[in-house]
This record gives sequence, C-alpha cells and structure tokens, in this order.
Amino acid sequence: MSLITVNNSSNFHYTWLQRCAGNIIRYGCTTRPKHIAIVMDGNRRFAREHNFERSRGHTLGADKLFDVCQWCYDLGINELSVYAFSLENLKRSQDEIDTLMSIARLKLSEIEKSLEKIHEQQICIRIIGNLDLLPDDIRQSSYYLMNETDQYKNFILNVCFYYTSRNEITNIIKDLIKGYQKDLINISDIDDDLIMQSLIVSTSHTGHLPDIFLRTSGELRLSDFMLLQCRFSMWIFADVYWPAFNIWHLYWIILQYEMKSKTLINIQNQCKDILKENQIMNEEKTQRIKTYLDWLEQQRTERLKL
Ligand code: FPP
Repeated sequence: MSLITVNNSSNFHYTWLQRCAGNIIRYGCTTRPKHIAIVMDGNRRFAREHNFERSRGHTLGADKLFDVCQWCYDLGINELSVYAFSLENLKRSQDEIDTLMSIARLKLSEIEKSLEKIHEQQICIRIIGNLDLLPDDIRQSSYYLMNETDQYKNFILNVCFYYTSRNEITNIIKDLIKGYQKDLINISDIDDDLIMQSLIVSTSHTGHLPDIFLRTSGELRLSDFMLLQCRFSMWIFADVYWPAFNIWHLYWIILQYEMKSKTLINIQNQCKDILKENQIMNEEKTQRIKTYLDWLEQQRTERLKL
C-alpha cells in the first residue's frame, strides 16, 4: 500500500531484493538520516534524452517525488524538503511556468483526494515559500492541506514554491521587525539561535534540519536552496536525472551517510554547544521567544489565505 496514492504511475512495488536491502538499511544502520532536502533537477534533460515532451519530464519528476516519499517513509526517514519551484524559475517561459503550475495543481488535488489515507498515516504536508505568488486556486488548496494535516508527525513533506534562501532570510528579518513592533520580542532577543529557530523547517514538528542535501542531475550547485538549514548537512550530488532516480540510488546515499554520520553529528553537536554557552536564557526570554515563534508559524499559514 503506498503512502500517498496520488496516481497509478507512482504505485511502486518492491522486488524481493529491494525489500531485503531496505530492511538491512532500516534495521542495520546505526544512524539513519531523519530529514533529506532535495533539489529535484534534470526533468527537462531526461525528457530530451528520451524524446518526450518537456511537460512529460516534469510530470515524471512529480510522480518520482511520491515514490521517494514512500521509500523514505519505509526506511524510517520522516521528513523530506523539496525544491518544487524556485524564484529563479520565474525566468522560464510563461508556457513552462503554466505547465509546472498545472502539474502542481493536479498533484495537490490528487493529494486532497487521498486525504483519508493521509489522516490515517498521519502525514503532514507543508507548502513553503513566497506564497503570495502562487495562483489563487493552488494557494487555496495548499492552505486547506496544511490546515488539515498540521498536527501530524509521522512523516513531513515540505514542498518549496517560489522559494530561495535569500528570500526566506529577507522574510525572517521583516517578521523580526514586525515581532519587535508588536512587542513580542526585544532587540536583545535577536541572535543566531532565534534566526535558526525562525527558519521554516525549524518550525515543523520535528524541527530537525536536513541531514542530507541531495541534488540530482550531476550539477554541482546549491541554487540557493536551504543554505542555512544545510550548513552541516552531508552534500550529495547524484549523477542521475531526477525522473530516473531509483531506490538503489537512495540506498547508496543512506549508506554513504552511515559512513560519515559520526563526524557530521559531532560537528553539529559542537556547534550547538558553542551556541548554548553564549546564551543567557531567562524564563521571561524563553516565554517571549516561544510566543514569537507561535505567532510566526500562525502568520505563515495565514499568508496562504486569500
Ligand atoms: C528541475 O528540472 C525541476 C523543476 C524546476 C520542477 C520540479 C517540480 C515538480 C516535479 C512539481 C512538483 C509539484 C508538487 C505539488 C509536488 P529542470 O526543469 O531544471 O530540468 P533541467 O535541469 O534538465 O533543465
């Protein structure tokens, strides 16, 4: 049974060997990643290579995302953040932007149709980014899905639309100013830690930053995706176009993480300790920060309202 049955083409079935390898990884790895951030790159090149229409490349890419959600869920990885549409993608032709939005519209409506199953499996869907730019109907269904699923923690899917890290940081600064003007926080409350806590993935139920940053298609670029969130992640650049990404690629990535995780986790902990040492938290400040972060999360969902 698949996690989100969004269409017939993404109903993935494991072979015996894939299931065996998956169980070995799930129960044998000492440290599994909890959160993976993905730049799903290479849809158009995949289409060109196979003489498909460009739109078919994007559709196959969207289907692949739901397979990958299933594989991650089965492996015990419970959060994925994906770059569905960057602010830079606005430079593409109107025709291509319309195609991408139609695919997004279709996928969101398919997710809505499988809502019963999503409730059953307790999956949280979060739409992230400069959401004012989304077409009204996509904004409306994003708002609906986020509201319906925001209490769940079993698996979290963060889909980034009209997103760049630069833009996220700009919005965090604007929100801090608003928070100060509303007397929610003091200027002295603004520090590295508050900026990190204000990042959109930090306000998810897990608050766990990505352990792995993955980009497909062989390009060695970060493309302004979750730069602060991924500063201690393991960066993996897979030489495969996104629609051709398969379960063996994912298994291989997790094994690579297993080999390097001790060093990565040590570095992350050292950084946490440095921050803690520099922090003088009193109860009042802790309460202010909590109130501010609750307000921030509410603001972000409200922005999806038309
Ligand atoms: C990168 O390939 C892919 C994109 C710009 C779009 C990805 C978006 C989706 C798959 C839609 C997902 C929607 C939902 C609601 C989950 P590219 O076009 O840059 O290909 P290229 O690198 O070969 O040029």
